Amino acid sequence: MLEKRLRLIGQDHIAKLLEEDAPFISRQEIEKDLGQTDMSLVNELIKGNYLYHEPDMENVAPAEIIPASFAESDEARSYRKHGEELLKKGRVAVLIVAGGQGSRLGIEAPKGVVEVSPVRSKSLFQIHAEKILALSRRYSRPVPLFIMTSRENDDHTRRYFKDHSFFGLNPEDVFFFTQGMLPSVAQDGKLIISRQGGLFMNPDGHGGTLAALRRNGCLETLESRGIEEIFFFQVDNPLVFVCDPLFIGLHSLRGAQMSSKVVRKRDFGEKVGIIAKVEGKARVIEYSDMSDDMRYAVDDRNEILYWGGNAAIHMIRRDFIESLTGADRRLPFHRAHKTISTVDSKGNPAEIKGVKFETFIFDALPLAENTITMEVIREHEFAPVKNRTGEDSLESSKIMQSNLHKSWLKHLGIEVGSENLVEICPLFAMEKDDLAAHIEHLPIKIVKDTYIG
Ligand code: UD1
Repeated sequence: MLEKRLRLIGQDHIAKLLEEDAPFISRQEIEKDLGQTDMSLVNELIKGNYLYHEPDMENVAPAEIIPASFAESDEARSYRKHGEELLKKGRVAVLIVAGGQGSRLGIEAPKGVVEVSPVRSKSLFQIHAEKILALSRRYSRPVPLFIMTSRENDDHTRRYFKDHSFFGLNPEDVFFFTQGMLPSVAQDGKLIISRQGGLFMNPDGHGGTLAALRRNGCLETLESRGIEEIFFFQVDNPLVFVCDPLFIGLHSLRGAQMSSKVVRKRDFGEKVGIIAKVEGKARVIEYSDMSDDMRYAVDDRNEILYWGGNAAIHMIRRDFIESLTGADRRLPFHRAHKTISTVDSKGNPAEIKGVKFETFIFDALPLAENTITMEVIREHEFAPVKNRTGEDSLESSKIMQSNLHKSWLKHLGIEVGSENLVEICPLFAMEKDDLAAHIEHLPIKIVKDTYIG
């Protein structure tokens, strides 16, 4: 019986409300939420086990980073070629984490449906899907796409792709899977009642991707399709160079289990995690966890010492995910203190301070035997949409997308008005060098906002 079970796990306050038939609590919802919860794990978290611990500063050093200039070297060619081979053989799949909502942008819908492109107002999902379609055409092979949703936005996301005919992708190559949820707890470790009468649950963080891949059968799908490598990124970055063959090749030929792209930090205060080296292993130190000593540290030339900003773009080997999701292996949980909307003992709306637990995908880095970290140019690959205005906003991202495409045109000698926005469809050109083949279809001069596709 539910009440007995709740008492057994130390949650008497909820058992009592159920016994009293309190009108603001739903037996069905509580049962459903508990059914999805590994309570032995939650109890360990409440006791302070399995938590993430900050490294000692004396063990932290700057990471070894392959500089962006490497891409121009002769040596880069063989790595790029190897990456292309893996794509041609169909060994690579794409994974987008898209569990978040567009709330920070004032949109109550999956973040992936936010319209971000500068001229045609394409959504994040459309831009990513078109890049993947372009890749499968280039390599004459479908590139399977895995999209991680959350309980909150799964239906909407699936419907959105269906309503848009999967943006030209074959629906058989697109897989949706939902991340897990964990109950938030009050300061005293008690579960919290949501305003809907169930438990207050939060998504388990993008580290939950790994367990969700296993739980939803995606690891088997990957294996049966002969996929060895996963190109991972966050839905909010329309500039991502999906399946960059150089990155894939470096990661694979250098025997890495997980690899990362970084951008040079804009300034000391930029809200990105940084990749550092802790006891010989790559590790992300999140901006919110960074001490001021570390944030403001400078090198001999007075430049930011920890400059490798985490672009949240990774290569991850499938067999590494298999090993991380085996028995008794898990990522450490981060605790975040939050204000939580709940009800008081009479059912009136109330707010309390609570704790949510999440895991982060980048905490897999120190568990890998081998990793590589590669610098990329921010203006070419990183323009995330996080805020409504200012830095990392819809506005700044549109300008960056347009500026990149303008630079491709200017490279071919095409004149582009400084006030005009330009957007190039990924199906027309995925990279700068693809444009040259279309030179006869391009205008000589651009004098108004222009979409090329
Ligand atoms: C994140 C990274 C940071 C990095 C920056 C780059 C974390 C904790 N930090 O910061 O190191 O420099 O991006 O842009 O990730 N998501 C889920 N499920 C979840 C939580 C998040 O799918 O449970 C997805 C969201 O849809 C989003 C992405 O993960 O696309 C990042 O989440 P967000 O909270 O926006 O992270 P940032 O604070 O921007």
